Amino acid sequence: MISEKQRAAEAAVEYVKDGMIVGLGTGSTTEFAVRKLGEMVRDGLAIRGIPTSDVTKKLAEDEGIPLIDFSETMYIDLTIDGADEIDADLNMIKGGGAALLREKIVASASRAEIIIVSGQKYVKQLGGFPLPVEVIPFGWQVIFNELETLGGSPDLRLKQGQPLLTDQGNFIIDCRFRQIIAATQLEQRLNMIPGVVENGLFIGLCSRMILADGEKIVVRERKKR
Ligand code: 5RP
Repeated sequence: MISEKQRAAEAAVEYVKDGMIVGLGTGSTTEFAVRKLGEMVRDGLAIRGIPTSDVTKKLAEDEGIPLIDFSETMYIDLTIDGADEIDADLNMIKGGGAALLREKIVASASRAEIIIVSGQKYVKQLGGFPLPVEVIPFGWQVIFNELETLGGSPDLRLKQGQPLLTDQGNFIIDCRFRQIIAATQLEQRLNMIPGVVENGLFIGLCSRMILADGEKIVVRERKKR
């Protein structure tokens, strides 16, 4: 029995064509896509990938997918990534896997971004999932305080009792806002706090959502900003 995640991932890789530069997202849903792309590469598909995390880099290397970085290109043809929440406008919360910074850089360099999700990630209103905010370690407490002032309930993400370190050596503060109504303004406001490197609101960056809901595949499209 194929899971919803795998179903969405396998629908997404059908958009990958010979010669493309492909952004490789992070997370358990994207893992299915990377593994499938590996199979396709071994069957002769010629692509070059740009991974969004060290974990995905390792997986792609193990799968034999040739990788490049931004010293070789300024754009990506197509990125396949997951999300923690996505709404009807295809705006998202990402960063549950702590890769939001590289994911956002890759998304903004991508001509098309396919987001693959299982049914329960589709929400009416963003905000049920705590918003990941990536901050530099110095003065994180000040940022924490600022997030409270903004009406959020912040929580420093830990791993084995220590602050989790992202691939860039930063911390993540997960901040619950309950309902996020003015997402664009919040995204900009958060990034204005000194020490905030990026936040997990991805606004206008998804061009196609592929959602697997039981046996059904739902595809929704919109123009990237
Ligand atoms: C990583 C992400 C992931 O795409 C998101 O957390 C979804 O992960 P999963 O597919 O494991 O549910 O944003 O930073």
